[in-house]
Amino acid sequence: MKKIKIESPSKPHFCYFGTDLFEKLPKLISASQLPKNILVIVDSNVNKLWGKNIRETFSSLTYNVNYYILEAGEKSKSFTKVQTILKKMVELKFNRDSMIISIGGGVCGDLSGFVASIYNRGIALVHVPTTLLSMIDSSIGGKNGINFANRKNNIGCITQPEFILIDKKFLKTLPKDEFLSGCGELLKYAFLGDTSLFKDISKFAQNGFKENDANLDNLIYKCILVKSSVVKQDEGESDVRKVLNLGHTFAHGIESTSNFKIAHGIAVSAGLLAAIILSYKIGLINEKQLSAFSELPLLMKYPESINKLSVPSAIKYMASDKKSVNASPQFVLINDIGELAMNVEVDSALVNESLTSALNFIKTLNNPTKTTSRKK
Ligand SMILES: NC(=O)c1ccc[n+]([C@@H]2O[C@H](COP(=O)([O-])OP(=O)(O)OC[C@H]3O[C@@H](n4cnc5c(N)ncnc54)[C@H](O)[C@@H]3O)[C@@H](O)[C@H]2O)c1
Repeated sequence: MKKIKIESPSKPHFCYFGTDLFEKLPKLISASQLPKNILVIVDSNVNKLWGKNIRETFSSLTYNVNYYILEAGEKSKSFTKVQTILKKMVELKFNRDSMIISIGGGVCGDLSGFVASIYNRGIALVHVPTTLLSMIDSSIGGKNGINFANRKNNIGCITQPEFILIDKKFLKTLPKDEFLSGCGELLKYAFLGDTSLFKDISKFAQNGFKENDANLDNLIYKCILVKSSVVKQDEGESDVRKVLNLGHTFAHGIESTSNFKIAHGIAVSAGLLAAIILSYKIGLINEKQLSAFSELPLLMKYPESINKLSVPSAIKYMASDKKSVNASPQFVLINDIGELAMNVEVDSALVNESLTSALNFIKTLNNPTKTTSRKK
């Protein structure tokens, strides 16, 4: 088991990472002297696959353990679900001496974190992420929230958990497309760390993004370290934490225009490609870097539906991104590995060209026999 200290300024805490670790959760809870009234919020798909194991594990804890099964899917990040869970907690007579344990992916974690942060002005929270994306990203850093009025993650706050327990065994049942979505987010870290992490992530991508890749444990561990170090420097995202949005402005446009049919991490991968091309177009990187950096998102497997996306529609959504200033999207771009440029505003024609170019490359990958130009 690895024990990683997440040095968030507001509340330093630990992330435990390993395989077959979940069984240790009751011991960790009692050792941390956490509240004895518990609501376990479990993603419905995770409940189907792991429900028996989860209940058996908690049976060794002589605490008041209750369950709420959260319908899987992005739609659950809603005020309706927040209200339903809050109501359940009131019925259970939960006071401040209560806690929430989230067992699921980013949807379950974001919603549970938000409920825990507002119930009685904040109760304890433990994250047990079960998707690759939530293991390397969403469970770390304290961001939580829901979607409102057709906008993503626009209601929420930053509240840190008591601890995070990552058991890689949960990945055994994760559908392949969800695993790939996590890999899209993992590709982002290749540009946030050092050249050795870039090389390791490149090898993993060249090897076909395999769940049983011998280096996956190491990659998850390194991504957590990178995210933790960013959160330590800027928990509230007033400055350096913005680097975590690399590729995300384009991704937001891609996800929204696909009506969220393209998974977040896949959109991030395509967004990374567009951000790399844009970095080249405005002279931040040279041709050699363009070619070396583009290789990673070009190794991703994209769904056919991405070929039909409308660039103008994606660009329109990008202007409404919550990170936009006066309807002008703000980009994180690349100077080099580990050297990012933040708050970059770019001429809209270049943004359009970069996204068009990225999507054309992807179209060529998806239809290798067709003669779409691969020239930039
Ligand atoms: N808080 C943050 O910092 C942050 C960062 C990145 C993304 N996010 C949010 O995370 C969400 C995406 O997270 P996600 O990719 O984990 O999606 P998700 O939570 O929707 O999970 C993806 C799918 O996998 C299923 N699933 C989860 N674990 C499983 C398992 N072990 N076996 C089988 N099926 C399993 C779920 O039921 C769901 O159908 C988005 O809402 C995004 O906005 C938050």
